[in-house]
Amino acid sequence: MICLGIETSCDETSVGIWRPEHGVRDVVHSQVPMHAVFGGVVPELASREHLRQLDGLMQGLVRDENIDLGDLDVIAVTRGPGLLGALLVGIAYAKSLAMALDVPIVGVNHLQAHLLACEFEAPIEYPALGLLVSGGHTHLYWMRDELDFQLVGRTLDDAAGEAFDKIAKLLNLPYPGGKYIDILAGHGTADPRLFTRPYLNNSNCDFSFSGLKTAVAHYVAGHDLPRIDYAQFQVDMIPMVIKDLCASVNLTIVQTLLEKTRRALDAHPGARTLCVAGGVAANSMVRREFFDFATAHGLKFLVPGQNYCGDNGAMIAYTGQRIAARGLASALDFEAIPRGKPVPNDYIVNPFFKE
Ligand code: KG4
Ligand code: ZN
Repeated sequence: MICLGIETSCDETSVGIWRPEHGVRDVVHSQVPMHAVFGGVVPELASREHLRQLDGLMQGLVRDENIDLGDLDVIAVTRGPGLLGALLVGIAYAKSLAMALDVPIVGVNHLQAHLLACEFEAPIEYPALGLLVSGGHTHLYWMRDELDFQLVGRTLDDAAGEAFDKIAKLLNLPYPGGKYIDILAGHGTADPRLFTRPYLNNSNCDFSFSGLKTAVAHYVAGHDLPRIDYAQFQVDMIPMVIKDLCASVNLTIVQTLLEKTRRALDAHPGARTLCVAGGVAANSMVRREFFDFATAHGLKFLVPGQNYCGDNGAMIAYTGQRIAARGLASALDFEAIPRGKPVPNDYIVNPFFKE
């Protein structure tokens, strides 16, 4: 079964393909430089850019991979959660393609797809614990199988990636700042007492990162920190005090993620795998510390390769293929799901499915 995957939920336009012999391939067009000027994603610009890029990316991928459109068995597309206008571009394109080719369509849950991208490394052994850490979400899931995800913890305000990005902005680092804090943290020394790990004084698995952002804002306001030239980011040119600050922020966020994951594991001791996915899973300390944590608890540890932590069409193609392989598909009138709303598992029996 050959599945094409389309991703347009935020600021990356991406098309991926899954084939039995070849696995996944994808192409990504990042809109980051366009949105960086505004210091965040501008939804209308994102939708317009998806519309401009999507067909060219798709045509380029099928040409480079020597695929005839008539060979596609399934079209998968991100259904949500994401920016509504941006999602609608991908969904309208995918529905048209599915109708034209007379193949089934699968509307994919973006968050589930991030976690299933762990399978590009090795199979997930269920039940599993999944930590999804991205720019828009910080969710802990109890995963019974690839379609049965139960939410056990979530952020009450900012997502971990959002906290990284807002703190980076306070320090005048380039956008999106998570990557830059990660790089600078690697050159600094963390002070574990500088910031309180946020929202641990409870017994739940939820997160709240907005207090950390405020604490860093107070710290910046109370210290005469050197001003970084945003346009000329060079590690060697950044003063040590900023590198140390980044190391402390990074440590605080990672330790908080670890502590809540530890609680989720206490509540679900039968877990066999620990999956960490989403943009923040690219963070060096996240990868290192969670590997150690999983190993210490006898869990299989899976994290996607750096290329597949951020938004990508490959994870959509892969998840679409998994759902289609179960004989399921989406009705052609399925709707986009905006941020903050749960994506329903309302699949129908795939009318085209043959064992
Ligand atoms: O999954 P993603 O590409 O998009 C969403 O679905 O949100 O995640 C983007 C987020 C941004 O907040 C970005 O700063 C963060 O992932 N990020 C990182 C790193 N690389 C990307 N955060 C910390 N360390 C990194 N190395
Ligand atoms: Zn994402």
